[in-house]
Amino acid sequence: MAGKESTKPLVPRHVAVIMDGNGRWARKRFLPRVAGHVRGVEALRATVAACVERGIEYLTIFAFSSENWRRPVDEVSFLMQLFIKSLKKEVNRLHQNGIRLRVIGDRSRFEPALVDAIAGAEALTAGNARFHLTIAANYGGRWDVVDTVNRLLARHPGLAAIDEQMLGAELSMHFAPEPDLFIRTGGEERISNFLLWQLAYTELYFTDTLWPDFDAQALDVAIESYRQRERRFGRTSEQVRAAGEGPRHA
Ligand code: IPE
Ligand code: IPE
Ligand code: MG
Repeated sequence: MAGKESTKPLVPRHVAVIMDGNGRWARKRFLPRVAGHVRGVEALRATVAACVERGIEYLTIFAFSSENWRRPVDEVSFLMQLFIKSLKKEVNRLHQNGIRLRVIGDRSRFEPALVDAIAGAEALTAGNARFHLTIAANYGGRWDVVDTVNRLLARHPGLAAIDEQMLGAELSMHFAPEPDLFIRTGGEERISNFLLWQLAYTELYFTDTLWPDFDAQALDVAIESYRQRERRFGRTSEQVRAAGEGPRHA
């Protein structure tokens, strides 16, 4: 048993996170919801550091969904300003640590200051490859698929059919392996239109911990849960064991 365990990789290569529960965290403390978002940025900073330390290569986080525009206008506006402020504040530190930052999602609705901050951060960190931090903002899994198909149609007029490879190579996460581990904090057990295509065989982990309380220890609990899983990808357990594969392998 111990021998088999030791063949398993210690950590997932790509972790995708829905950072949920900021509003409830604040309400529990009789604070405005936005105070939870501010603390959420701190939890994210700590989580990035913990992922890097553990040898995870890709962290993809859901910061703002295409449905979050439905929130009160003051909260939306606060989130956009917090995004700009945090990008400007953190980008140099990310760069010094060899982290490449990307933003996925529809930027057409963002104000120019945010579009510029994103472009600047992406350009500064474009040569880094130690760790990949991807922020999904005004992102929706359905938007991603439809946008990709439309771009393919524009590029290949008269295209009669597409296949999984073509689509996968064009989706906004085309540069990354599919997530191994998905974490959602805040107690809800749903995908909320996050990476629909890429999560097809991802191990799902849900925790009641509210995002501002998430830390390195909570990450380790999620990773431990991941390590207990047997990833079969349609095969039988016997086949997987005979191949001596750990949880990471397809
Ligand atoms: C997640 O926390 C952050 C965003 C969606 C921007 P919420 O703001 O959804 O917090 P709850 O779910 O209301 O507690
Ligand atoms: C999902 O959280 C989106 C982000 C964390 C950015 P929500 O709190 O918006 O999701 P629902 O509405 O509860 O599904
Ligand atoms: Mg929520």
